[in-house]
Amino acid sequence: MIDDIRAARDAALAQVDAADSLESVTALDSQLLGKKGPLAQLKTKLGGLATVDEKKAAGQAVNEAMQAVSAAMQVRTSELGSAALAARVQSERLDLTEHLTPPTRGHAHLVTQAWERLEDVFVGLGFQVAEGPEVETDWYNFEALNMGEGHPARGEFDTLFVGDPSEGDGAGHTVLRTHTSPVQIRTMLEQEPPIYIVAPGRVFRRDTPDATHMPVFHQIEGLVIDRNITMAHLAGTIEAFTTAFFGQKLPSRLRPSYFPFTEPSAEFDIQRPDGSWMEMCGCGMVHPNVLRAGGLDPEEWSGFAFGFGIDRMAVMRHQVGDIRDMYTNDIRFIEQF
Ligand code: DAH
Repeated sequence: MIDDIRAARDAALAQVDAADSLESVTALDSQLLGKKGPLAQLKTKLGGLATVDEKKAAGQAVNEAMQAVSAAMQVRTSELGSAALAARVQSERLDLTEHLTPPTRGHAHLVTQAWERLEDVFVGLGFQVAEGPEVETDWYNFEALNMGEGHPARGEFDTLFVGDPSEGDGAGHTVLRTHTSPVQIRTMLEQEPPIYIVAPGRVFRRDTPDATHMPVFHQIEGLVIDRNITMAHLAGTIEAFTTAFFGQKLPSRLRPSYFPFTEPSAEFDIQRPDGSWMEMCGCGMVHPNVLRAGGLDPEEWSGFAFGFGIDRMAVMRHQVGDIRDMYTNDIRFIEQF
């Protein structure tokens, strides 16, 4: 009898060991330890044994066998449980160090691109880059540019004044620069001719935004001062520059105009694909009064100057319909360029 019990126990343990899933261990539980299981069957035969001692020994052996099988089942359950967990963790693993797509790289804003390209083209033509402050005095922004107090041309500049009229020298003496032209004066006062500079920068006007105007925009000023400079140098420079900037020669025209700081003055226009003209730049021969304000003798030196709208150059180059689109920072728009 004892041998039968041991044999049944070993067979049961082997089955538990061989179970390869949690479901099969669960199934074995009733199969091996249930009422119809091999050990339970042996228990029913205990009554047939001859002596009390034999019954006792065999009963104990069956109980121990059942306990051993039950313990083995617990061990196997936990083994299979942790293996299943490990498999699940592996399959659901999120590797946060891995990128399915490479990270995208940003790029410079449309206006910055135009600004840098303009600088590059002019540096290629032998110009140097100059700078001036965005908050200017009345003298640099107007007076020295041949626009004395009360000059009607001041009205064209929709100026934003800085300061309180009741304090010190009062408002009206400090302004947000309305153009980059004051850098002409600063450069003349700082360096000896010959001067070949461009001055890109931000400018401000009290304008209501529309498709072609923004109250904050960008210009690039050009100034050439040398001996015997003529209007032909001006026309040739602007044409060489626009051809390089747009990568092709576009129809253009110089149209007579008026600026207090140039004489004669002109406007440079470029033709849009739809045939209409777009004003790109004001230009002209530097006025003698401006040379004098810059500390130069007009009998000795002559020069030309121009001022382009950088935003307009970008709009033109990329065929943007509305200048405001460049500043609302809608990523779907920005990403296209
Ligand atoms: N400063 C002018 C403006 O903002 C543009 C301009 C015109 C600049 C003629 C120049 C120039 O240097 O010669 O409208």
